[in-house]
Amino acid sequence: MKMKKITAAVFAAALVLSACTPVEDGSETDTIPVLGNNIVTAEEEPIKTEPTESEAAPVSEEQSKPAETWADTEEPPLEIPPQSETETEDTYSEGEITVIELTYYNVTLETGDSSMPIVTMYPEDAPDKSEKWTSSDENIAVVDDIGNITAVSEGECIIRVQSAVSPEVYAEVNVTVISPEEEESEPSSKNEGDTELTYIDGILIANKTYALPSDYNPGVDPDAQAAFDKMQSAAAEEGLNIYISSGFRSYDYQAGLYERYVERSGKAEADRYSARPGHSEHQTGLAFDLNSIDITFADTEEYEWVKAHCAEYGFIIRYPEGKESITGYMYEPWHIRYLGAETAKKVTDSGLTLEEYLGIDSKYSE
Ligand code: DAL
Ligand code: ZN
Repeated sequence: MKMKKITAAVFAAALVLSACTPVEDGSETDTIPVLGNNIVTAEEEPIKTEPTESEAAPVSEEQSKPAETWADTEEPPLEIPPQSETETEDTYSEGEITVIELTYYNVTLETGDSSMPIVTMYPEDAPDKSEKWTSSDENIAVVDDIGNITAVSEGECIIRVQSAVSPEVYAEVNVTVISPEEEESEPSSKNEGDTELTYIDGILIANKTYALPSDYNPGVDPDAQAAFDKMQSAAAEEGLNIYISSGFRSYDYQAGLYERYVERSGKAEADRYSARPGHSEHQTGLAFDLNSIDITFADTEEYEWVKAHCAEYGFIIRYPEGKESITGYMYEPWHIRYLGAETAKKVTDSGLTLEEYLGIDSKYSE
């Protein structure tokens, strides 16, 4: 097995003043599996929809599969650019754009490569959603009229998209351009964070043994997003609706989630279904939670289809049933991890978890 460590790219400035916060699917929600039988949705605190079973009492492994979820608002609320004193939320002019969201806000490209974030402008029924794209430094990266960013030379710059009708409303992507050789030839020589990225056989690992740097903040991976989009379309052709409920999660966001689970379930129990900050695959931008983040997802046609076909699109079901002692986590039918089609097929055909396939552990040191 080939093991190498590669330093995290610098993603220190999470977001420049932009019109919104990073989300991969625009939902800004995440759901959390806890014990019991309900699905609960909440903004701040979980709201019970039905009386729950005892949540504190110890349960057997079989009983303790996550069967209840609650959702919360992800990270800070949308940051809407300041409005003039007379313009309030209720009085903005008709036709004005108020918020722009992107599918990612940080991207690292090799020179010559291109990438295009997807833009959503609000309100959704605005009559004119024309975009105006600019680069802060066209020597580093250029952008065309539809938002296709092309890396020109090494360095960092900001690509901005503005509403043509409301130019004060904009969102920005931090672009880091590297040379192709740099990525290959600079293993672990610069460490910007408190730890390093760990690649094993070319696969970025985030589990209980291997952590990510707290400043590793890549946003959703564009290849993973594109692969998901294709998979979603293929499922839709068969009348099935699969969607991302939780995608990229920053270190800080995961820290908040984990803290709440610990308060709710205690540390030992929380560790069975929620990763500690730095240890979540969601921070890689390569993992998605699909549909209802609940054990009932395993009984749906959508899950059957995902299980049968996700490897074709480059995904694996990351935390299979009965493998908690190996992966470190309870069965999560909804959590898929992007590996690329070739590797995903090999892992799936092996019938092994990723840990078994690579011969690695998933255990916290303390
Ligand atoms: N629920 C998975 C293990 C996570 O928190 O990343
Ligand atoms: Zn997940």
